[in-house]
Amino acid sequence: MEVLRSLEAMHEWRASLSPDYRLGFAPTMGNLHAGHIALIHRARQRSDKVIASIFVNPMQFGADEDLDAYPRTLETDLEKLKAAGTTAVFVPTANDIYPDGLAQHTSVDVPGLTDVLCGASRPGHFRGVTTVVSKLLGVVRPHVTVFGAKDLQQVLVIKKMVRDLSINTEIDIVPTVREVDGLAMSSRNVYLSQKDRSLAPLFSETLERVREQVAESLSGIDGIIAEAKATLTNAGFVVDYLEVRHTHDLSEASSLSQETAIFGAASLGNTRLLDNRIV
Ligand code: PAJ
Repeated sequence: MEVLRSLEAMHEWRASLSPDYRLGFAPTMGNLHAGHIALIHRARQRSDKVIASIFVNPMQFGADEDLDAYPRTLETDLEKLKAAGTTAVFVPTANDIYPDGLAQHTSVDVPGLTDVLCGASRPGHFRGVTTVVSKLLGVVRPHVTVFGAKDLQQVLVIKKMVRDLSINTEIDIVPTVREVDGLAMSSRNVYLSQKDRSLAPLFSETLERVREQVAESLSGIDGIIAEAKATLTNAGFVVDYLEVRHTHDLSEASSLSQETAIFGAASLGNTRLLDNRIV
């Protein structure tokens, strides 16, 4: 497995790749878990060579968020990627990605889809995601790029960006990988105290219960959501949002004839949990 630690090394590696190969790509921020590795497995199924990237992207963190505390575990990440059969890993420096600094950098904005859910609670977050992903796609030029359904809004935003900017890559989505108790795997789960870790599965359980109730009927949705929020709040969660929306445009769900999902974000202590369930 080649570790490409600069933009120059990345460009050279890409230029040396035979055009006969299909290239699969999984962008990450590291501290890899089985959810990330599932992306590598999918990319391997869909292509001949697989590249991952590891970059804790400062542009997608708010000023009061966990950029400095974000877990950085590069050596074990590289071991996991190698064991999963990754061909190469791109580990750019902040200077490679933002040569003139964050404030002076060109940014990519996807309108509409980024106004709601995580976009409403984390202003500027998706601008950071789309800016870095567009740059990564520009240098990696993969045939297929793999994302996780755990960050469903992110996937929808990236799909629109790729379409709008005519970026020539296919977006593939891997289902959320969960712990045995249902908690969606996340790099941030390491922040959870022991007590919060034991409470955390209630979040995915609650989303699943809302999904079951909504699947029966959309009527009474306000009561269903209020009850679910109360369950979480009483258990000690601070609920950011719990909403039922259509997946194609993130509009509020009005009928189940279009694909609909339950979207949730809630905090336990300093840890923000994110999850969703497709109805
Ligand atoms: P990160 O949180 O490291 O996630 C990288 C990829 O792994 C994303 O596509 C995410 O949806 C997927 N993933 C995370 N947890 C998962 C799980 N439990 N099951 C399945 N897939 C999972 O998402 C980002 O990084 C960044 O925003 C990034 C796209 C790399 C841009 O900086």
